[in-house]
Amino acid sequence: MALVSGPGRAGGSTSLDQELHILKHVAYIKNLDTRKDELEYWLTEHLRLNGVYWGMTALHLLGHPDALPRDETIDFVLSCQRDNGGFGAAPGHDAHMLYTVSAVQILVMIDAVDELEKQGRGGKQKVGSFIASLQNREDGSFMGDQWGETDTRFLYGAFNALSLLGLMDLVDVPKAVAYIQSCENLDGAYGLFPGAESHSGQVFTCLGALSIAGRLDLVNIDRIGAWLSERQIDKGGFNGRPEKLPDSCYTWWVGSSLAMIDRLQWIDGKKLAGFVLQCQDSEGGGLADRPGNMVDVYHTHFGLAGLSLLGVEGLQEIDPVYCLPKSVITRVFAKS
Ligand code: FPP
Ligand code: ZN
Repeated sequence: MALVSGPGRAGGSTSLDQELHILKHVAYIKNLDTRKDELEYWLTEHLRLNGVYWGMTALHLLGHPDALPRDETIDFVLSCQRDNGGFGAAPGHDAHMLYTVSAVQILVMIDAVDELEKQGRGGKQKVGSFIASLQNREDGSFMGDQWGETDTRFLYGAFNALSLLGLMDLVDVPKAVAYIQSCENLDGAYGLFPGAESHSGQVFTCLGALSIAGRLDLVNIDRIGAWLSERQIDKGGFNGRPEKLPDSCYTWWVGSSLAMIDRLQWIDGKKLAGFVLQCQDSEGGGLADRPGNMVDVYHTHFGLAGLSLLGVEGLQEIDPVYCLPKSVITRVFAKS
């Protein structure tokens, strides 16, 4: 029986009806890489580096950080790097902010950032320069790649990776913070760009970036806390926006946002954890977006990350800002 405890739960531990199938999930993630003969593997090539980040982080949360081979992981990550210092989704793919963030997160998680220098890749400075080159210096926003689309996900990704590398001085932080404020809607939540619909994925990115910048003081905690709490619907799960169905990954996007503003106690953690545990495939391992649907590594990672925030027993603690194990974040910032 799994237990909910910790900061998200007022009143200590509470038993849950469902088990967390730790070993099944470990096996599911390990097997993802051995299914290269399946169509699905190749259909998801455009997400490969993200997939390694999702799988690797989930394995750390499950207490099996060495389940994937370290050297092969480093080789694969470096094989995705392009001449401009950024990383593509897979070898030969164009560099993009989101894959570059995944590459940095993976290297940080397995303590291998030094390999960028050792293997003649121009060190972390070259990666930082690629990220910094994607900031629009007029309004502080960030593009995903040289083609120019801007989105708060890219701004958060830049802050996440640059702060992990100790290179925040490469970008204009005050301008980026002002840009985030321009994406705030009247309901207190945030959208992809100024005037865009409020979405809890973007709330996560904006609160995460403000946390890294040390500017959560700019946030109206009661207003955004109320909007986030309203994401919990009857079944206990969170939706990403009003009128949408619950989805296990929003346990992370909404839950981490509430954790960043210290309001996780405003929702029913036991009901939420119950919903996520029902999304498990108890035979083959992995989690789906909703009970009974097909599992995938994205929902496996973000579902487990959400359960970790809720203090479910058997999972390592996760950092709500970086979406990496707390132990990793402690190690990185102890060094700097
Ligand atoms: C929901 O997307 C989630 C978001 C929009 C936030 C995504 C954030 C990033 C990619 C930044 C990097 C994140 C981490 C953790 C390092 P969706 O497309 O599933 O939304 P939908 O439910 O509306 O389809
Ligand atoms: Zn989802």
